[in-house]
Amino acid sequence: MKSHNLHYFALVLSCIAYPRGVQLTPNGTLYDRIGPEHLHALLTRFYRCVGHDPLLAPLFPDDLGHTLEKQFAFMSGFLGGPPLYHQRFGHPRLRARHLPFPITPEHARAWLSCMKTALDETPQIERADAAEYYAALTKVALHMVNSPSAAQEPTSGEGQAR
Ligand code: HEM
Repeated sequence: MKSHNLHYFALVLSCIAYPRGVQLTPNGTLYDRIGPEHLHALLTRFYRCVGHDPLLAPLFPDDLGHTLEKQFAFMSGFLGGPPLYHQRFGHPRLRARHLPFPITPEHARAWLSCMKTALDETPQIERADAAEYYAALTKVALHMVNSPSAAQEPTSGEGQAR
C-alpha cells in the first residue's frame, strides 16, 4: 500500500474511533478527563463552600446559581473543552472583571481552600488531574489579588497628611 493511502486509512480509522474529532493528546484535555458532569458537581460544591465562607460570602450575590453557571462556562474553556464563556459573554478579561471587588491575599487563600475542599469532595476526579487543575488555579487566583493584605492596611491615623 502506498504511503498516502496508508495515511488516508489511518485518518478514516481515527474518525471512527474518535467521532468527536481526532485526539492530539493521548489522554485528552483536562476537560476530557474530568468531564462536564463531574466539573459541574465540583463547582456546585465549590460555591456551597464560598457561600458559607465568612471572608468570601460578602463579596458574592446571595443567589450563587448564576455565578455557578458562568464559572462552569468559563472553566469548560479553561480546561480545554468548549469555549462556552467566550461564546456567551465574550473575552473574560478576568482581572478587570474582578477589580470592583477588593481581593486580598487572604481572599485568594480562602478561594483556593474552597476549591481544595471541593476537589477532595469529588473523588470521581482522578487525584493527578485534581492536582494539575489546582496548580493551574493557584496561579490565576494569585493574579486576581488587587488589594493589600488586611494585616498590612494602615491603622487609623497612619498614612494621613502631616
Ligand atoms: C482569588 C480569589 C477570587 C475571588 C475573591 C473571586 C471573586 C469573584 C466575584 C465576587 C465574582 C462576581 C460574582 C457574581 O457577581 O456573580 C467573580 C466572578 C467570576 N470569577 Fe472570580 N474570584 C476569585 C478568583 C477567580 C479565579 C481564580 C477564577 C478563574 C480561574 C475566577 C473566575 C471568575 C469568573 C469566570 C467569574 C464570572 C465573571 C462574570 O461576571 O462574567 N475567579 N469572582
